[in-house]
Amino acid sequence: MKLLVLNGPNLNLLGQREPDLYGHETLADIENTLRRQALDNGIEIDFLQTNHEGELIERIHAARQESDAIIINPAAWSHTSVALLDALNAFEGQVVEVHLSNIHKREAFRHHSYISARADGVIAGLGSFGYQAAMEFLLR
Ligand code: DQA
Repeated sequence: MKLLVLNGPNLNLLGQREPDLYGHETLADIENTLRRQALDNGIEIDFLQTNHEGELIERIHAARQESDAIIINPAAWSHTSVALLDALNAFEGQVVEVHLSNIHKREAFRHHSYISARADGVIAGLGSFGYQAAMEFLLR
């Protein structure tokens, strides 16, 4: 399986950004854990974090040919981006949406995610373990 892990805006600041909400691990820590998990399970894994919506959309277009599944934390674009939803709708593999925090416990504007209409599964509030759980699900 070829797996793509996508992270949206401000997630490059993980570890420094609002640690009470998002934890003390950096994105590099999370990616290293996932890299090991992928290696142990014979998964080919690729990562992108970007603060540019168009770059994320173009990576999803490329994934139509290259990837079997996507794990995505769309971050703030979850709540704003029909363009991101449309790009994921053009991708035929499985999609798991991950949020570190429980978006349903937070401000009302975070309760709705455009991406959830496309996701095969949604994980929220499990911290960085959510990404590992998503990979575990995709292995089944
Ligand atoms: C987030 C939740 C979003 O509401 C927020 O904009 C983020 C991170 C999460 O992982 O909990 O940037 O996706």
